[in-house]
Amino acid sequence: MTFTWEFFALSICSALATVLHCHADHLPPPTNLSYEWLDPFTVNVSWSWQKPSNLPEGCDIKYESGRKGDDKGNRRTEWRNFTDTLVTEEMGSDEWTYTICALCFGSCADWNGSTDASITIGSSKPRAKMMDDFRCVIDPKGMDCSWIPVNTSLDPKLSYRSCGTSEEFINNLKDCRQYYSSGIRRGCYLEVPGGNFQDICILVETETIESTFRTSNTSLVPLPKLNITREKHHLYLSWMTPEFKNSCWKYQFNYTQCNQPIRQQETSKGVSTHRIPYDEHCLYEIQFRVVTDESCIPIKSNWSEVVIYGANRPRDGTLTVVTIIIPIILFVAVILSCYCFRKHSNILCPTIPDPSAIFKEMMMNGNKELMTTAGSLYTPVPEPIEPCKIALVTENGVLQQTS
Ligand SMILES: *[C@@H]1O[C@H](CO)[C@@H](O)[C@H](O)[C@H]1NC(C)=O
Ligand SMILES: *[C@@H]1O[C@H](CO)[C@@H](O)[C@H](O)[C@H]1NC(C)=O
Ligand SMILES: *[C@@H]1O[C@H](CO)[C@@H](O)[C@H](O)[C@H]1NC(C)=O
Repeated sequence: MTFTWEFFALSICSALATVLHCHADHLPPPTNLSYEWLDPFTVNVSWSWQKPSNLPEGCDIKYESGRKGDDKGNRRTEWRNFTDTLVTEEMGSDEWTYTICALCFGSCADWNGSTDASITIGSSKPRAKMMDDFRCVIDPKGMDCSWIPVNTSLDPKLSYRSCGTSEEFINNLKDCRQYYSSGIRRGCYLEVPGGNFQDICILVETETIESTFRTSNTSLVPLPKLNITREKHHLYLSWMTPEFKNSCWKYQFNYTQCNQPIRQQETSKGVSTHRIPYDEHCLYEIQFRVVTDESCIPIKSNWSEVVIYGANRPRDGTLTVVTIIIPIILFVAVILSCYCFRKHSNILCPTIPDPSAIFKEMMMNGNKELMTTAGSLYTPVPEPIEPCKIALVTENGVLQQTS
């Protein structure tokens, strides 16, 4: 008991001491926020920060930054600058807004974080959409991209590089060299060196306007051909996986069995076969597509055309005959015969014989036969016995006596 009280009192004391000792001070917010575009996709945001004179030694300051509308979450850094990739399609307006605050760790953990400082970043050139329906089909060496020009009198230049903020990426912006046109669409083949396929950032610009976007949402991988083979009670679906990014591809199957939709199935990544249960009385309508695993950049294919296998066939007849038709025939036959029997009972069975009459007849004939046949085989020595009396009941119930 005393121990508990002492412990409690001690806890209160130490809590009070902490409160009294605590500055409950806020760190000052970052100042002099500025930005610089390192290239059309990359911005460098930097700031200064004034360290308070009473901040204890061994204090670990970190800066937390967040971008409005970015769902990837905040990031923390010990530096007073960071770089980020910004593309037009990811912003609602021509601007991006960052908030940055200072946080305290280590020996100054009792200091509160600073209030937010914010900076709004405008694009280096006015942004405008110049291409509609931009899509790319990827292959091991690059991407075949095409689009519909928004304004055919503009002739924008297209350049591209791997998305990212590293210096290597930033210094490798390439111009498109193989423009082509096909109907209303314009296109360009983008070489991706070494088949090292990455998320590609595209810059489209004229003298006065520009637009940037990523290809990941618009890239398509071509569909392989689906082979279907049957083995007893299964269908084996097989295909060739693309020759690049082998560990990324997964396949989704939508199919119907006897016109009944079956829940969508997805293979694990990198496989090139899939097995589904097979019912030989069913028509299968199969559609599939390619998607990438969550660990890879998102690319998918369109859904394939419907591939048909088998046919809807009635079930085997024998069982139906045995279990349904035969009992029905038998039942009908019984009913009919009952009906016939009742109607023609006087022909089929004129009078129902009286069992007692039959019995009487049997007894009399039996006695005669016994006397004649038994006599020839065995002649018993007559014994002096009382003559027995047998009483028979006739049809009208009168007792007859014989001796
Ligand atoms: C970003 O700007 C800061 C401040 O000007 C500079 O120190 C830093 O090196 C820049 N970062 C890059 C990657 O250029
Ligand atoms: C900017 O960040 C880099 C590391 O990303 C660092 O080396 C450099 O010192 C930083 N500059 C400032 C002014 O914090
Ligand atoms: C297309 O671009 C030309 C040249 O910049 C411009 O004069 C014209 O107004 C544009 N047309 C439309 C429909 O935006």
